[in-house]
Amino acid sequence: MRSTIVGAFLVLTGCGQMMITVDAGPPELICDPAVTTPVTLSATVQAQIFDKQCKSCHNAFDASNGDYSDAARTAAAVAKASKVAPALKVLEPNNLGRSVLWLKLNNRKGPAGEVLSGVMPPGGALPADQQKLVKDWICTGGT
Ligand code: HEC
Repeated sequence: MRSTIVGAFLVLTGCGQMMITVDAGPPELICDPAVTTPVTLSATVQAQIFDKQCKSCHNAFDASNGDYSDAARTAAAVAKASKVAPALKVLEPNNLGRSVLWLKLNNRKGPAGEVLSGVMPPGGALPADQQKLVKDWICTGGT
């Protein structure tokens, strides 16, 4: 009984916080301070994310939305200004809320309310472990 009451209280408090902090600092826009070892494109992210989930569409055939077909091309593509929101970069190192790539993976708008077109990948959100890898990559410098 006691744990049921505590559980209900936590759920209520959690909802309240989410409603209040949606624009101030939603959890998906906050880097994990425990991750300090750089996660890099060449060591992990290219093979585990871009090769598997993105380059079937993002390749040299139609590079206008970013060519992610190998680590060098991905690095060049994510350093550019975003096509859907030119005031933002595709990847802003250490800044999830200004990285269009991250915002699209999370179906979020830009910091000034920019609508960023479709969610990526179009077939549905990445699994949590892959989301975390992308997050840690951006948060540890995005190189
Ligand atoms: C089925 C095809 C397809 C897949 C798979 C796909 N994309 Fe896209 N992507 C598109 C299309 C089409 C656009 C342009 C329309 C839009 O922005 O929504 C786009 C646009 C983008 C943009 C915006 C680029 C800019 O300059 O503004 C980003 C960032 C992006 N995709 C990231 C990804 C990532 C990361 C993955 C893999 C996790 C991925 N996409 C998988 C088709 C795809």
